Amino acid sequence: MKNLQLLFLSVLITLIGLNGKAQVKITVNSENAEHQISKHIYGHFSEHLGNCIYGGIWVGENSPIPNVNGIRTDVADALIEVGMPSLRWPGGCFADEYHWKDGIGPKSERPPMINTHWGMVSEDNSFGTHEFLELCELLKCEPIFAGNVGSGTVRELSEWVEYVNADIKSPMTLLREKNGHTDPWYVKYWNIGNESWGCGGNMTPEIYFDNMVQYSTFMRNYPNKRLYKMIVGPGGSDLDWTERLLKKAADNGKLGMFNAISMHYYTVPGPSWQQKGSATEFGEKEWIVTIRKALGIEELIEKNIEVFKKYSPRRKIDLAVDEWGCWHTEEPGTKGGFLYQQNTLRDAMVAALSLNIFNNHCEWVKMANIAQTVNVLQALILTKDAEMVKTPTYYVYKMFKVHQDATLLPIEIECPEYEFDGEKVPAINISASENEAGEIHFTLANFDPSQSHKIEIPVNDKLKFSYGEILTSDNLNDFNNFGSAENVTTKEFKEASVKSGNLSFEIPAKSILMIEIK
Ligand code: AHR
Repeated sequence: MKNLQLLFLSVLITLIGLNGKAQVKITVNSENAEHQISKHIYGHFSEHLGNCIYGGIWVGENSPIPNVNGIRTDVADALIEVGMPSLRWPGGCFADEYHWKDGIGPKSERPPMINTHWGMVSEDNSFGTHEFLELCELLKCEPIFAGNVGSGTVRELSEWVEYVNADIKSPMTLLREKNGHTDPWYVKYWNIGNESWGCGGNMTPEIYFDNMVQYSTFMRNYPNKRLYKMIVGPGGSDLDWTERLLKKAADNGKLGMFNAISMHYYTVPGPSWQQKGSATEFGEKEWIVTIRKALGIEELIEKNIEVFKKYSPRRKIDLAVDEWGCWHTEEPGTKGGFLYQQNTLRDAMVAALSLNIFNNHCEWVKMANIAQTVNVLQALILTKDAEMVKTPTYYVYKMFKVHQDATLLPIEIECPEYEFDGEKVPAINISASENEAGEIHFTLANFDPSQSHKIEIPVNDKLKFSYGEILTSDNLNDFNNFGSAENVTTKEFKEASVKSGNLSFEIPAKSILMIEIK
């Protein structure tokens, strides 16, 4: 925190509109800069769904598409570059029908299965536990396993933990050795079920709680392999689930059975799940509505935290937003149930504002996983046979990775509203952090498609503007497509300076900025 004292002694940052009138006040409370932004806020989610795993990540050893032991090289390289700290697998809804033992051993002996949730397609189980953990080793990221509570058994999940983590002679460790892996891995992060209120078993919070306690009991901490257990939390705004679950946990003295509660939040631009709206064909009305809906996650995070505090005042419960992102209508002409959608500047805005919100709530939000990594929902990467495209969302992750494990600089903001057709949202969204090297990063989104904003930040004279990046595009619905140059990508942003104790720059309309000073 070298620069913190120098920089922000309750600094007032003023954003000034083009007309020169002060419009925005931001206070950075340096005395409250005490929370680390967990790198796992920048986590990802990959499900056996459509072409996320098969075709997107895994092409098999014999594919003409370049691969490392079956894992696509182009996709792996792109994910390494973006700095992926953790990856959740195998679902989603799929997790509660996945039987892990069908995905180990010689590939020719693995039984096929039907993916009943997503497209009713047959899967050959060629991508299983070993392949996923090899992917994580390649990407240098932490695996997150989602255990099957809906259609599995306590024994099955208990044995999965033993298979991957135990280093003591046992049926599972001998089986692992037989399958070519003598040493255990360390899978620390576990979901105990997924959306158990819906696709994961249609349970009430009370029934899920009873199941969860039993499953959790038999998920053992092997020596030096303590587990981090995440239990099923609310979907969207269902605070009643959180209330009833935590009430039961508190009443039964079982708050110690888990570390975190998960939360799923999807931004559906259209009026309903039946009319989600096109990913690419939209106007300014859909743009602002999407942003307003995406911003709604902040209130829900805060409301859930209140419930955590109410039922667990002494023991901290973490929040894992382990599925989030935009959910549009599937691209015309693609297979139903595969959830393939394009990704525009609008999706990039949702990524930027969501990551800023998670950063700003990092005292509680310890993990977040965008849905999903490749070819599904708000993907970072799209593939078509041997081709690959990096989406605008990919570039947001690349710009924002500077915040991983840095210290949050808490900000209070009062800013002008951007209004359109009866809708309004704050025009600017921001978070800031300082890393161990003393570098300070601001990430900002300007939602207004036609108005730029001048920003002045009082800083110590010793600090200099060192680097900036911008993501924008001519049109709100620009996207990156196969076979053509990228429309929406980052460029260096040089128009910032520190003069007379002020960091100043102008954030252009409909753009996302990262500014570094040191
Ligand atoms: O991400 C797609 C699906 O959305 C997941 O499988 C499920 O958990 C959620 O409903």
